[in-house]
Amino acid sequence: MPFESYAWPIPDAEVQAALVAAYQDGSWGKYDGPNCRNLESALRELNLVEHAFLCSSGTIAVELALRGLKVGPGDEVILAGYDFPGNFRAVEAVGAKPVLVDFQENTWSLDVAQIPLAVSSQTKAVIASHLHGSLVDMRTLMTVSQKQGLAIVEDACQAPGALVQGKLAGSWGDVGVHSFGGSKLLTAGRGGAIVTRREDVIQRIKVFSERGNQAFPLSELQAAAILPQIPKLASRNEVRWQNVNRLIQAVDGQSVFQPLPLPTNGDIPAFYKLGWLLVPSLRASTDADAEQIRQGLVHTLQQHGLPFDTGFRGFARRTTQRCRVVNELPNCRKAACSTLLMHHPVLLQSPEVIDQIAAAMQELAVR
Ligand SMILES: Cc1ncc(COP(=O)(O)O)c(C=O)c1O
Repeated sequence: MPFESYAWPIPDAEVQAALVAAYQDGSWGKYDGPNCRNLESALRELNLVEHAFLCSSGTIAVELALRGLKVGPGDEVILAGYDFPGNFRAVEAVGAKPVLVDFQENTWSLDVAQIPLAVSSQTKAVIASHLHGSLVDMRTLMTVSQKQGLAIVEDACQAPGALVQGKLAGSWGDVGVHSFGGSKLLTAGRGGAIVTRREDVIQRIKVFSERGNQAFPLSELQAAAILPQIPKLASRNEVRWQNVNRLIQAVDGQSVFQPLPLPTNGDIPAFYKLGWLLVPSLRASTDADAEQIRQGLVHTLQQHGLPFDTGFRGFARRTTQRCRVVNELPNCRKAACSTLLMHHPVLLQSPEVIDQIAAAMQELAVR
């Protein structure tokens, strides 16, 4: 069954009006203007934090967060063995060494129980990413990290507006990181932001970024485009959440697409990508076989117009010169060769479209 491709960003008259207004008031051509200031204050209010700093991408925001926390050469940073590739690179960019821990089984969430096993005298921080609809157990992570004296960078680039144990994703950690990249739930094509309660962190980030001019800026025009999307985020997340529930229920009973376990504690995930584990890949005897099976299915899914792709490659195969690995990372290894991702625009469609997608997935699953 052919599906139309669901474009992103979707038409939004308020974004258009904000861009026209930025043209008319001249702010589009200014270094500093009201739109960036208003976006910073919206992010502060939303996250209940004292400081927000705008920058050019989520990728640089992670690096700035580490710099703000004074992570540098000789230090170690814990992160999951499967994450956005730029997060590993950000640790290296500040001169520190990544320490890889596993996911909780059948999720894309760092296993907090691994943290005490990973810590050495050099470990300074943890990067906790909310990935593919999974949410990290932030309350436990904060307790464990405080005990170990570790700072937390909470990467909410894939989960803006998600509610994690009663607080907004990104607002738990010492530093929260957001992306406004072209495919993201809040988009300006490019862009990022940092939120924090820590004055020392924001001062270090400002000093590092100020080079006679802002080195990693977000423009007035980008801020103008993001602002009207913020009040719509919660209701759009709610629609995506309803549709994810509907889809997962509708494909129940087949044995090819394994959904992520949905939270039962009142958490509301946000879905930039909806993760699935591909069961035939999980059962393959080698990683190469698993990847080949997945590649074949992704090809078929895409031919049927279903918005699926593969996940990240993960870091489990990186050399021990580049990182320290805690245990064998079985769940991250599985994720690296068995993850399928459904891109979010389809999750704003009507229940009928969701049912059609579920039917197409069921049909492909029994072939
Ligand atoms: C978890 C995570 N962190 C950081 C980023 C980087 O964001 P950006 O694309 O704005 O550089 C991404 C982008 O996909 C991401 O998924």
